[in-house]
Amino acid sequence: MTTVMITGANRGIGLAMTRLALAQGHRVIATARTPENAPDLHALSGDLTVRALDVTDEASLSAFAAATDEAIDLAVLNAGVLNSRGRLESDGESVAAWRVALVTNIAGPFFTARTILPHLLKSKAGKIAIISSQMGSSATAKGEAYAYRASKAGANNVAVNLAAELKPRGIAVGAYHPGWVRTDMGGQDADISVEESAEGLLTRFEALSMATTGVFESYAGKPLTY
Ligand SMILES: NC(=O)c1ccc[n+]([C@@H]2O[C@H](COP(=O)([O-])OP(=O)(O)OC[C@H]3O[C@@H](n4cnc5c(N)ncnc54)[C@H](OP(=O)(O)O)[C@@H]3O)[C@@H](O)[C@H]2O)c1
Repeated sequence: MTTVMITGANRGIGLAMTRLALAQGHRVIATARTPENAPDLHALSGDLTVRALDVTDEASLSAFAAATDEAIDLAVLNAGVLNSRGRLESDGESVAAWRVALVTNIAGPFFTARTILPHLLKSKAGKIAIISSQMGSSATAKGEAYAYRASKAGANNVAVNLAAELKPRGIAVGAYHPGWVRTDMGGQDADISVEESAEGLLTRFEALSMATTGVFESYAGKPLTY
């Protein structure tokens, strides 16, 4: 049994990964921006601790670290936003939207990793899984959703830099595409359910090791190009 931390666990893929990890017998530290407004998370049963965490807020990150002194074996950095799908001339691609996307999707994983590094180092084999997106792959550019695509390309860059820096400290890092998933973000026309995505992702995290650190792959294990 391992201790798994999952950010953005109150809905969508984060909630499904939390439910599955608990069912598999893991201890889960699940975080939400507003835990007092996370009824689906609180309804789960198992070895669950729910904590507040806004990954863009330094005070929130510090408070999380201060409240947690146990080892974390796997940190799933899942919190993310998709706030515009615009093209070059779309109003939705505003400076405000870019600021939120870049800070949440790129800086969020960086600052969360920094916050929990002491907890990962307490584990015998700590791992970080960043939930990125195939849309962050420059190999599949489509000329839309600029802020989101750039933010996930940045998240991938953070993942490979963390993999390089943390390799000598025995922490493996991977970036993962969860599939096109039926959530508030993915919409109801998406390809797969949250359960299918979570099942595939947890299997991929199990396979993550020092031998595969720096990997970028899909929930189904398909290798992806940065
Ligand atoms: N769904 C897809 O098809 C798809 C495809 C590729 C990649 N992804 C990625 O998969 C991850 C999960 O997506 P999803 O579909 O489950 O999205 P979702 O249903 O929109 O849920 C997003 C989660 O992230 C949290 N979050 C957003 N900003 C945060 C912040 N500053 N601090 C802490 N938590 C924050 C949200 O919290 P609140 O409830 O407080 O807003 C929510 O729990 C994201 O990183 C997303 O980019 C999704």
